[in-house]
Amino acid sequence: MSQTSIHTVIARRVWDSRGRPTVEAEVRLTGGATGRAIAPAGASRGSREAVDLRDGGDALGGFGVSRAVAAVNGKIAGRLTGMNAADQAAVDAALIALDGTPDKGRLGGNATIAVSMAVLHAAAAAHQLPLYAYLAGDREVRLPLPEIQIFGGGAHAGRRVDIQDFMVMPLGAASFDEALAMTAEVYLAAGRLMADAGKLAGVADEGGFWPAFDSNEEALSMLTRAIEKAGYRPGDQVAISLDIAASEFGRDGRYTLGLERRSLDSGGMIHMLAQWCRRYPIASVEDPLAEDDAEGMRAFTAELGGRIQVIGDDYLVTSAARVREAAASHACNAVLIKPNQAGTVTETRQALEAGKAAGFGTIVSARSGETEDVTIVHLAAGWDAGQLKVGSFARSERMAKWNEGLRIEQALGGLGSFAGRAVLPPGAGALPP
Ligand code: PGA
Ligand code: ZN
Repeated sequence: MSQTSIHTVIARRVWDSRGRPTVEAEVRLTGGATGRAIAPAGASRGSREAVDLRDGGDALGGFGVSRAVAAVNGKIAGRLTGMNAADQAAVDAALIALDGTPDKGRLGGNATIAVSMAVLHAAAAAHQLPLYAYLAGDREVRLPLPEIQIFGGGAHAGRRVDIQDFMVMPLGAASFDEALAMTAEVYLAAGRLMADAGKLAGVADEGGFWPAFDSNEEALSMLTRAIEKAGYRPGDQVAISLDIAASEFGRDGRYTLGLERRSLDSGGMIHMLAQWCRRYPIASVEDPLAEDDAEGMRAFTAELGGRIQVIGDDYLVTSAARVREAAASHACNAVLIKPNQAGTVTETRQALEAGKAAGFGTIVSARSGETEDVTIVHLAAGWDAGQLKVGSFARSERMAKWNEGLRIEQALGGLGSFAGRAVLPPGAGALPP
C-alpha cells in the first residue's frame, strides 16, 4: 500500500480566539505521516462564502460544532480512507461531491477546510518537506509583503467605527523580518498616541487597538501620525491599507455611517474614499463598496485602480469564477484569498491562480476568528501569493503566523526573497502632488 494513502481521518472540537468552538482535523497516512489543521471563522462574511455547520440552539451561543465534527468522523472519514493524500485535487473533489451543495452547507465548510488542509499537511510530512517547500516544488519561494492592522473597527470592535481595518504596509522593508520590525514600531507609536489622547480602550478582535475615535477620518490622521512618530516617511516607507468591509453597512446602494450619523449613496462613498486617498498615504482599499454593488466597485476601480490596489473580499469570496468575472468587468484589481471561504485547498488555489492569470494582486488572509494554525503562511509563501493579511501585531493567534513567516525566511537563508512593494501598483501609497 502506498505510503501516502489515507489511513485515518478524525476531528475534535477545539476553541478559537473568540472562545468559540471550531473544528480541528487530523489525518494519518499508511506510512505513518500525520497532518493537522484547524478551521478559522469570519465575523464579517460575504453572503456567497462556504458556510460553517453550527449546532444552533442555546448552548455555546449556537456556535457548537458537534455536527461538523461528526461529519468528519463519519461520512468524510469513510469516503477519504484509502485515497492518496498526495492527490489533493482528488481528495477535494471527493469532499465537494460528498457535500453536494454550492456552499458546503451539508458537511460544513468548517469540516471540509479543516480536513482538506490536514490532508495537505500529511502529504507534505510524508514527503519530509515543510509545507511551503512541498507547495513550491522547484519554484523560488518569496516571503509575502504583510498588511498589518493597527486599529480594528466594524464588526470586530462593536462597530465603534464603521471602517473595519486600518492597516499598514511596510513598503520600505527589504525583508519579512524588517517588515515586522517596522510594523512593531508603528503599532507601539499608535498605542502611545492613543494613550496620550485618552483614546486607548483595549484591543479589537484581531488585536488592533480598539478605536475610540469621533470620526473614521480621525483614525486615518492618527495612523499617519503614528507612522511619522515611528520615524518613517508615510506612503514611501510605510503606507496605509484599509478594509472598508462596506457590505457590513451598505445595501441596495445606501451606506449608513453610524459613527458620523450620515448616509451616503454609492457615488458619495466613492467621493469620500477618493478624498481620503488624496489626503492620506493609502496604498490599498478592500471592499470599498458592498458585495451587491458591482456598479460601485467598477466606478471606484475606474477612478482609483490605476494607482492603488482595490481588493475584493466579500465581493469575490475566494471563488475563481467570481475572480474571472471581476477581471472581465474591471470591478477590482486584487483578490483576498481565504481558504475557508472556498472550503477546500484546491478551490482556494484555483481562485488564487485565476487572480494571477488576471494580473490581480493576491493576498492570502486569516479570519477574525483564528487559532494557532499557521497553514495560511505556508500557502502564501509556497504559492507565491505576494501578500499576507493576518490582523494585528498582538495576540498569539496573530503572532503565531507572523513568527512562522520569520522561521520560513530564516530557513531559506539566502535562497528566499521578499515580495516588497513590487506587488502593488506603481506609486501606490504616494500622495498626489
Ligand atoms: P472576517 O474579517 O474574518 O470577520 O470576515 C476579515 C476581513 O473582512 O477581511
Ligand atoms: Zn475584508
